[in-house]
Amino acid sequence: MPYSSVPPASEALLPDSLLIEVAWEVCNQVGGIYTVIRSKVPATVPAWGNRYCLLGPYFAHMAQGEFENFDDTQLALIDDPYAAAVRTLRAQGYDICYGAWLVTGRPRVVLINPFQAYDRLGDIKRDLWERHGIPMPDNDDLLHQVVAFGALSKLFIQTVAALKGEKQLLVHFHEWMTGVAIPDLRRDGTPAHLVFTTHATLLGRYLAMNDPDFYDHLMRVDWLAESRHFAIEPAVTMERAAAHGSHVFTTVSELTVRECIYLLDRIPDAVLPNGLNVERFVAGHEFQNLHQLYKAKIHEFVMAHFFHSYSFELDKTLYFFTSGRYEYHNKGFDLTLEALARLNYRLQQSGIDMQVVMFFITKRAFTSINPQVLERRAVLEEVRQTCRAIEEQVGERLFYAAAASSDQRLPELGSMVDDYWKLRYRRTLQSWKSNALPPVITHNLVDDAKDDILNFLRRSNLLNYEHDRVKIVYHPDFVSTTSPLFGMEYGQFVRGTHLGVFPSYYEPWGYTPLECVARGVPAVTSDLSGFGDYALQNVPDPEQKGIFVVHRQERTFDESAEELTEMMWQFVLLSRRERIQQRNNVESHAELFDWKNLRVYYDRAYALALERQ
Ligand code: G6P
Ligand code: GLC
Repeated sequence: MPYSSVPPASEALLPDSLLIEVAWEVCNQVGGIYTVIRSKVPATVPAWGNRYCLLGPYFAHMAQGEFENFDDTQLALIDDPYAAAVRTLRAQGYDICYGAWLVTGRPRVVLINPFQAYDRLGDIKRDLWERHGIPMPDNDDLLHQVVAFGALSKLFIQTVAALKGEKQLLVHFHEWMTGVAIPDLRRDGTPAHLVFTTHATLLGRYLAMNDPDFYDHLMRVDWLAESRHFAIEPAVTMERAAAHGSHVFTTVSELTVRECIYLLDRIPDAVLPNGLNVERFVAGHEFQNLHQLYKAKIHEFVMAHFFHSYSFELDKTLYFFTSGRYEYHNKGFDLTLEALARLNYRLQQSGIDMQVVMFFITKRAFTSINPQVLERRAVLEEVRQTCRAIEEQVGERLFYAAAASSDQRLPELGSMVDDYWKLRYRRTLQSWKSNALPPVITHNLVDDAKDDILNFLRRSNLLNYEHDRVKIVYHPDFVSTTSPLFGMEYGQFVRGTHLGVFPSYYEPWGYTPLECVARGVPAVTSDLSGFGDYALQNVPDPEQKGIFVVHRQERTFDESAEELTEMMWQFVLLSRRERIQQRNNVESHAELFDWKNLRVYYDRAYALALERQ
């Protein structure tokens, strides 16, 4: 394997170097790269200190909450080449900020407003075409921002390079959106060692979404014809130019290595797996308490959603979920649904009294939350308040009766409730109960009729009938503290569930199962996801650590669906004690994926880059 030839990190090489890490998602959350950069900070800053700086585009509305800009007085006091470069560029009239990212580790960050280069877009685009053969359309705003930021980041890097003295300069670019600066930096002979990481090939993602035999066809793809077909030629040529121009070219998993070879025509020098900042509690059982706490919040949702129609035992209900970008096939939603339908049948046949509520948390265009769903939450709240009022009244009166009683018999409690509350109790319950089935989706979608998840549920009649042992809640919006139905953070929701289900078909890395594991929640992944593949190759006995890898390579859909059904079935059969024990196992091994352990891959890539001119 070419990438195993990467030398071990040479600590001797690194102390004299500066490291700039460039990403579109610095202080600007869009997707997974934000998680990579942000979670890596606590492991990176202690090693690099003030020799490290992040660089990204400045978007006021995104940076607002998480970026603290140094003012001129502070800037004047900072003695490092980044501050010096920022001062130089400001003196030339550039709009460029230096400050702290307000996240754990507080790294120093340079943000540049891409729009200030818009008056030069014509020249920038002409140069890209004439020098590097990168074509640019007239009216794509994202591409305009990308190339404008590329030109400005090149300027910043060259200014740092001119001020760095004897130090070596490493610049690490993530994804094509920042990599566009690479070809020009090489053309100018800038004294910097350039690393480029692709987190997925752009063309690979499109092809995987559209070709059911993507992996079989990968070797024969005509990249230019296909990128024209999908109208992504400019971005694909930028990605190729960055891959070829960098001193060290890397990607996030062995799965994407294949894509790089066939779609970008360069063999990656190294694989840099993604980690997390795994925070463990001092008291070992604390995360179990949190599971209980957040599960109770999910119970509240479930009662509001289902119990007006029929009830079931919450103590014998397991919460499964999947989440992520709405890519029905790539994210394995299709496989998950098929396996759930089979599990439903198995559970019905078996006579076992357990059941599953499955949540699909993703993002789809919707017009509103289904008003009935909201109303039921409100009515359930009314039920709760009525119960509380009755409880208080009975409590007071019982206490009085007990103190005054001459015998030790418990009085008739019903007689302690006023008629007013009895009536109100009846009325509230009347408006609570209904004959309608609990809906499988919480919102009204813009395109309900064409939605793949809904169509599967309709076709397979998995529509939350009382006799179904697998119930579905499709929530086409992210879960957040402001979401009216859950009112909790995503991480809290994850803690409250029992199992995450992510059997992706295309997933260069995939953070979602790792985010479960870090919280002690077991998760399903697949051997076509970078994380699953990494776990199979590097983690002894992954199942025992709560990582269940569905085999999808060289398997039919039906075979993989059967394997997933079996995994979920075995999970349902576990006793509570076994689930608790399993969560303990999962949580205690999560540190395997901490950046403290995985940062070494980055350091090795940097050491290699320093050897290359
Ligand atoms: C945690 C709590 C226990 C609770 C258990 C429920 O471990 O500390 O008090 O009994 O969760 O586990 P379950 O898998 O049934 O949600
Ligand atoms: C891309 C990939 C995803 C990965 C993320 C971070 O978004 O599609 O699988 O987790 O980058 O590397």
